[in-house]
Amino acid sequence: MQKQREHWSSRFGFLMAAAGSAIGLGTLWKFPYVTGNNGGGLFVLIYIACTFLVGIPAFIAELILGRHSQRGAVGTFTMTHDGPKGWSIAGWLGVASSFFIMSYYSVIAGWGLSYMFMMLNEFYVGKSPQEISAVFDYLASSGDITIFWHLVFTSMTVAFVYPGIRQGIEYWSRIMTSALLCILLCLFFYATTLDGFSEAIHFLFYPDLARFKPSGALEALGLSLFTLSLGQGIMITYGSYMRRGDDIPKTGLMIGFMDIAVSLIAGMTIFPIIFTFGFKPEEGEGLVFKVLPALFSQLPGSHIVGSTFFMLFVFTAFTSAIALVEVVSANFIDLFGWTRKRAVITVGASSFVFGIPSALSRSKGMFPRWEEIYGLTFFETIDQLVSVWLLPIGVLLIVLYSGWRYNVKVCKEGFTHGSSLAWLWHPWRFFLRYVAPVATLLIFLQRAGLIDIDKLLA
Ligand code: TRP
Repeated sequence: MQKQREHWSSRFGFLMAAAGSAIGLGTLWKFPYVTGNNGGGLFVLIYIACTFLVGIPAFIAELILGRHSQRGAVGTFTMTHDGPKGWSIAGWLGVASSFFIMSYYSVIAGWGLSYMFMMLNEFYVGKSPQEISAVFDYLASSGDITIFWHLVFTSMTVAFVYPGIRQGIEYWSRIMTSALLCILLCLFFYATTLDGFSEAIHFLFYPDLARFKPSGALEALGLSLFTLSLGQGIMITYGSYMRRGDDIPKTGLMIGFMDIAVSLIAGMTIFPIIFTFGFKPEEGEGLVFKVLPALFSQLPGSHIVGSTFFMLFVFTAFTSAIALVEVVSANFIDLFGWTRKRAVITVGASSFVFGIPSALSRSKGMFPRWEEIYGLTFFETIDQLVSVWLLPIGVLLIVLYSGWRYNVKVCKEGFTHGSSLAWLWHPWRFFLRYVAPVATLLIFLQRAGLIDIDKLLA
């Protein structure tokens, strides 16, 4: 029995949900430190170019696939009549990577929840910057506390997804994505008043050729695909709740613009704080949890600024986690006829359990020898598995499928129907068929260590 598929109630709701999935910890947490490590400037310009030339075309392709099939990631590939069945592997890969990402995303997000409360309690009072940074190590190495927050975050996500598209995902995304955009703008205006603002702008936008390597360009591309949530069938799933007649190219461009704008604004908010207090931009993953709290503690009204920042952090994580849980659940609902309740709870519970070793990876509470054996902590192993192997392969398969195997008529109809940007059809198809596959193949080869582009181009 085919049930009526639920659709977004409004374009705004869909935009907030899709933008909410794209704007996440990658935008707020990864973008600043990866940009820092790559010397800013040229890296940022290439990141923007990659988003337009590869990211947005792939994003549009996913929406077209999903809206046409009206199925989740796996069902989309199995229902189309013109390709061999094997393509559904692309859908399953997406399900696997979403599940893996969710398992550790909620550990990081859980730390964010903890910091939101810690900031309100002014945990930093009377501590030196070093002592404040050290608190993060205590937190991360306290397995039980980390698991506690991981559980809180996962359960809240399940509660948001559980009521369905309109009353769950769309409702919460509208609130949280709009709130996070407002909070970000407020913090940004605050950052413009700091002394380090002009230095930050210079760092972010001045192309310093000396600090740039070709591998940085691939890194920019990888970041762009990650922050747009591509290659996992997220946009296939969200596209499947779209109605015929919605303008897909325009939606793709709008979300792409928003994602870039948010990354840049996040950069222009975080770097001025760092430069004002004389820190280095290359602080790495600890930037958000170690450096920022130490800096906030020196500002007037620090507990307000600090807890607002972490609230922003948690909101971006929620709107992404909602998407992660939804893609996995949607497949169980479509393929096995599960009820939404059963699917969402099963996915949440399994990702909580699977995330436990990640939550315990700093305290070595589980698999104590993992790092000695595999060279990375459990947490890092899962992250690598996803970002080195699963995501690039996922993007590659999806762009190859939609560019080369997918019925051209159906594709064209999806692109042009009801669209004011129908004239972009030929350029779009060119990027989808040629530029995107070559570019993603390069990232994959580089990340897997099969080529070294810096040597090749030297
Ligand atoms: N785009 C998200 C971010 O910037 C990360 C992400 C990657 C994601 N793939 C996803 C989020 C799938 C939701 C769904 O943090």
